[in-house]
Amino acid sequence: MSDKREHWGSKLGVILAVAGSAVGLGNFLRFPAKAVLNGGGAFMIPYFVAFLLLGIPLMWVEWTLGRMGGQRGHGTAPGMFDKLDGTGRWAKYLGIIGILGPFVILIYYMYIESWTLAYAWYSFTGHLPFGSGQEEMKAFLSGYQGLVQNNYFSGLGPALLFFGLTFLVNFFFIYKGLQGGIEKLSRYGMPVLLGLGVILAIRVLTLGTPDISLPELSVKNALGFVWNPDFSQLTSAKVWIEAAGQIFFTLSVGIGVILTYASYLRKRDDVALSGLTASATNEFCEVILGGSIVIPAAFIFLGGSAGALSAAQSGTFNLGFVTMPLIFGKIPMGALFSGLWFLLLFIAGITSSVSLIQPAVSFLEDELGWGRRRSVMVLGAVSLLACLPAIFFLGHGFVDELDFWGGTLFLVVFAAIEIILFAWVFGINRGWQEMHQGARIRIPGIYKPIIKYVTPAYLLILLAVWSYQQFWPFIAMKGIAPADRPYMWGARILIFLLGATLAAMVARAWRKKKGKIDK
Ligand code: ALA
Repeated sequence: MSDKREHWGSKLGVILAVAGSAVGLGNFLRFPAKAVLNGGGAFMIPYFVAFLLLGIPLMWVEWTLGRMGGQRGHGTAPGMFDKLDGTGRWAKYLGIIGILGPFVILIYYMYIESWTLAYAWYSFTGHLPFGSGQEEMKAFLSGYQGLVQNNYFSGLGPALLFFGLTFLVNFFFIYKGLQGGIEKLSRYGMPVLLGLGVILAIRVLTLGTPDISLPELSVKNALGFVWNPDFSQLTSAKVWIEAAGQIFFTLSVGIGVILTYASYLRKRDDVALSGLTASATNEFCEVILGGSIVIPAAFIFLGGSAGALSAAQSGTFNLGFVTMPLIFGKIPMGALFSGLWFLLLFIAGITSSVSLIQPAVSFLEDELGWGRRRSVMVLGAVSLLACLPAIFFLGHGFVDELDFWGGTLFLVVFAAIEIILFAWVFGINRGWQEMHQGARIRIPGIYKPIIKYVTPAYLLILLAVWSYQQFWPFIAMKGIAPADRPYMWGARILIFLLGATLAAMVARAWRKKKGKIDK
């Protein structure tokens, strides 16, 4: 079966594809918001600890498990876990999270990605109300999202149109396949993204002190806000949990997508240096570019850290969609820079969203034996249907609920499962050897005990603390308006139905395989 599977066209291609999956809306929208909300310099210490002790080890483990799985004809976690020496018949069902998780993220990710396309269009065509104030920009966003009826938009028409376009572009690249679609998209998209990021970062970093009567609102002080370590918050469990969550989301680890991408490697392709390069590229885009655009701009133009904080608190996407256009309105050629900013977001978004679709496609192809056309068509129809409630019920917390399960909890749970299977069931010694097959670097020896003890313990502690502090209030929807609860239950039911369908498909696929062997 394995010789029928596709392979990446080149080493650079796969690194750019994984980096493309990692670098996404998380880097440019989620990271600045999380950093500002968690006190700037106070966030960066737990963030880097999580990068070194969770992100990097999981990246290597996923590249290795993925490459092993691909050799055995499996591109997704159910098959990979099932074939791993030492696991039982149950392991394939645990792997379902590695397909369900990315699909749940995709449902809302693609919609938000379509806003960036719309905003790029509105910026370049001069339709974004740059010169206005915060309230007008918020009204523009709410009007676009169909949350209020106002002068700008009187319905979801434009949002549906841009969503439709985004959807088609995504599925076009998926349909074109690994080399012809995803690899090509990343090969062209990633250099453009890096170029745009550098241009925008230079633009912001050379703002100096725009208002000389307010010397404290300078680029220097803005960078100080992010980079001066602040040890006072380190006892807060929330900051550690948020920092770890950001590392998962941004690196795309614990989701299942890297397993799938790595399954298309060849037996002796390097995973050690490639995994590290993809992670380093992501961190460059996140802390250097992501941290040098939104945060300093918001700090300078919104009156320092307090102003940036209140903008971040007013809504998850407000820094990116409300504050940034306002800031661009204050500099020369603002419409152009605003257009470039949203274009950057769109490219970052699409190279990630294709990676969220691919695990489900690989599952249908590898385990059910479907052709690409059929897999892409069926998946396209299912995701289109699943995205509709995210579009129509955005104002009722539907997306927040999906983001919590798919974009937060599943990542930590899945990461814990895969690292325990890898380091304890398969065994760290064999795992370590496997990681070094064809490796272009030697992984520092310290990572052996880290992968075996530190990363799993870190994950289990995170899960325990979270469960203790938040599980019941969360399950019981404490603090949620009663009118929104049915929508959030709707999101939970949708996730459950998708999970149950996947479980049934796994059972069927394995029954069929067994039937073939028995014959
Ligand atoms: N890793 C992707 C992002 O950061 C999902 O947006």
